[in-house]
Amino acid sequence: MNVVVTGGAGFIGANLCRELSARPGVGRIIALDDLSTGRAGNLEGVDAELVEGSILDAGLLDDVVSSADAVVHLAARPSVPRSLADPFASHEVNATGTVRVLEACRRRGTHLIAASSSSVYGSVSTLPKHEDLPTRPLSPYAASKLAVEAYVLAHGASFGLPVLALRFFNVYGPLQPAGHAYAAVVPAFIDAMLRGAPLTVFGDGLQTRDFTYVGTVVRVLADAALREVTCAGPVNLAFGTRVSLRELIQRLSEVVGGPPPTVHHLAARAGDVRDSQAADDVLRGLFPDVVPVPLEQGLAETVRWFRGLPAYAPQPAGEPARAGSL
Ligand SMILES: NC(=O)c1ccc[n+]([C@@H]2O[C@H](COP(=O)([O-])OP(=O)(O)OC[C@H]3O[C@@H](n4cnc5c(N)ncnc54)[C@H](O)[C@@H]3O)[C@@H](O)[C@H]2O)c1
Repeated sequence: MNVVVTGGAGFIGANLCRELSARPGVGRIIALDDLSTGRAGNLEGVDAELVEGSILDAGLLDDVVSSADAVVHLAARPSVPRSLADPFASHEVNATGTVRVLEACRRRGTHLIAASSSSVYGSVSTLPKHEDLPTRPLSPYAASKLAVEAYVLAHGASFGLPVLALRFFNVYGPLQPAGHAYAAVVPAFIDAMLRGAPLTVFGDGLQTRDFTYVGTVVRVLADAALREVTCAGPVNLAFGTRVSLRELIQRLSEVVGGPPPTVHHLAARAGDVRDSQAADDVLRGLFPDVVPVPLEQGLAETVRWFRGLPAYAPQPAGEPARAGSL
């Protein structure tokens, strides 16, 4: 089977290409990526072809998708704060780009698996978040992700396209970049801890998230492609691991070692949800064999990966570690 991964040079995409390349039954793997946040270097040593270009380019998409048996659509302009800075850019890549990918798949009836986000639940406070709950996006990013899954499921209903829309929660692990304004919380905290710098927490730190290790996420995605898993409704891709940011800091500082980190609190950010925890019964029904990597193990793997990067190599005495350039 040949698989196209849009956003294949990004954090989750490159981990997925690596996972697919180790799976029997997978032939050609094409990573379509415009390298806006992804890096060609993420695919080093992975048996995947990188096609540099945009999902907004209909001709290129058609070409790339023509040889595929499955498309895993991860390309997006991620992050809530990025969408607050430029809502239209998020809409264009996330919503319009998804329709373009769907249309390329529709021409050949190609199975499509797409990344939605837990942010679609927004201000709905019920826990755990079950797929039957209403959606109330709090940010342009969340609205664009709701559009992603709505278009994907509508193409399934209207044209009989085999589709699966997965709501990712907080995914973390190797290749997730730190050291930039829109960094996710796990790499941002690890980066600060390894440099001995203070951690920045927006709000009181009691907000909760459902963290999912990237290795678990890509195993589900690869299984979905190989078994052509479909679903008429959206599916949470997380396992109910609800942890506050304060607890995350505690667990990370145990893994990293050394003195407890200093934490600076800033005002809570617009668009951020308060609590997040997935109901996983629909996911487990579709993927009965999935065994999630526990949080302690996933955090340890992630810290080990960071420690192997040149930016975090031990410095001569007296010199602080450089800021992460990932
Ligand atoms: N990481 C998470 O916790 C999380 C949570 C919820 C949803 N998601 C979704 O998962 C997907 C992957 O996210 P990620 O964390 O790996 O982020 P990422 O930024 O590392 O990956 C996105 C990739 O898409 C590429 N891209 C952006 N615009 C493109 C375009 N026009 N054409 C082609 N490629 C383009 C980027 O260069 C990047 O490689 C995204 O759809 C994101 O919205 C991620």
